[in-house]
Amino acid sequence: MTEENYMERAIELAKRGRGYVNPNPLVGAVIVKDGRIIGEGYHAKYGDLHAERDALKNVTESPEGATIYVTLEPCCHHGKQPPCTDAIIESGIKRVVIGSADPNPVVNGHGVKILRDAGIEVIEGFMKKECDALNPVFMHYITTGRPYVMMKYAMTADGKIAAKTGASRYVSGEESRYEVQKLRHELKGIMVGIGTVLMDDPKLTCRIEGGINPVRIVCDSRLRTPSVSYIAETASEIPTIILSAVRELKTGEITEEDVKTSGSETAIRGERLLQKGVRIFNYPLKDEARVDLHEAMKALGKAGIDGILLEGGGTLNESMLREGLVQEIRMFLSPKIFGGKAKTPVEGIGVEDPKDAQLFTWKDVQIVGKDLMVTAVPQEGDTCLQES
Ligand SMILES: NC(=O)c1ccc[n+]([C@@H]2O[C@H](COP(=O)([O-])OP(=O)(O)OC[C@H]3O[C@@H](n4cnc5c(N)ncnc54)[C@H](OP(=O)(O)O)[C@@H]3O)[C@@H](O)[C@H]2O)c1
Repeated sequence: MTEENYMERAIELAKRGRGYVNPNPLVGAVIVKDGRIIGEGYHAKYGDLHAERDALKNVTESPEGATIYVTLEPCCHHGKQPPCTDAIIESGIKRVVIGSADPNPVVNGHGVKILRDAGIEVIEGFMKKECDALNPVFMHYITTGRPYVMMKYAMTADGKIAAKTGASRYVSGEESRYEVQKLRHELKGIMVGIGTVLMDDPKLTCRIEGGINPVRIVCDSRLRTPSVSYIAETASEIPTIILSAVRELKTGEITEEDVKTSGSETAIRGERLLQKGVRIFNYPLKDEARVDLHEAMKALGKAGIDGILLEGGGTLNESMLREGLVQEIRMFLSPKIFGGKAKTPVEGIGVEDPKDAQLFTWKDVQIVGKDLMVTAVPQEGDTCLQES
């Protein structure tokens, strides 16, 4: 086996932690001695052993003199687990091959330095591109403090997300819908606009075996989410956050006391929702009765939401794109034509001229059943997180 094979194996192992480790990164590690793999490990769950310690725990013989292949720079700080650099030094490992640098300022470069100072040979940036691709969410969250937003939609070949009647079950095939369920498991949050809640009364849950429900987030300026909606009725079991824009209430998270003090019609609706177990984050825009999406993203980041699957509708999608808050588009393209005046994934007023378009770059395309799953990312320099 080659060095590439060992790192590929570490990458495969890292993927097993998907959905369970957030807001930590996915990390895999393989320990090799005399041309044989003697230990493998990965970060399996938030709070559990890091990949390097897991691999060391699993070794079949002494790791003295061995090489460890690890997809991310070993940590050197005390978090939920003690530093991995200590474990590597104590184990007698003599060579460390690292994929991605850790963008976390408390680790970046320090992990490598500690290992080198201990006399260990360190190779950095080995298969960096492949290792970086494991953790776009972590890389974005740790450097900005805000969630990575993946906008997802299913669309026909003529660009429609529903028939002219509004019926949208189903645009894409079963295999595509399963992929979406996997994304709901992998990303910590899922977000929709109130238009979608009022129209569809969605569940926004993860319905695959062993899957974890995302935190449901509804962008709802005036707290119109019905207290009898599925989302409200299940909020005591499945974490649910409403982003509101109610001027008479304070900015930030709203408590029952806040809504009682106000006593307005909107506040009364808020009280009913709070009693159901919903959390309300109130961030009105200065000049508009709509949610300040930048402030809301900051607050969600602080609440530990590192990634969001944005599932529409078109009005919210347009706002999120216009504000530069979307890091990835995941499109399921179905070989069907609906025709007529039907909804598209992005509404709003649109640009006047093609030259004013927001620009994206295709990143990946895969065949999923009869559909295509296409990934696009903002073109470098065109849109990225804008500071507010
Ligand atoms: N096929 C699919 O994949 C799919 C997926 C999702 C939805 N849909 C369909 O899309 C339709 C709903 O889409 P929609 O465009 O009408 O509504 P929407 O995007 O779900 O919700 C938009 C609403 O969110 C609220 N909002 C609060 N702050 C906002 C902000 N800063 N920017 C934008 N919106 C903000 C606004 O209402 P307030 O001001 O009252 O808060 C706004 O009208 C439904 O028919 C649904 O079935 C289809």
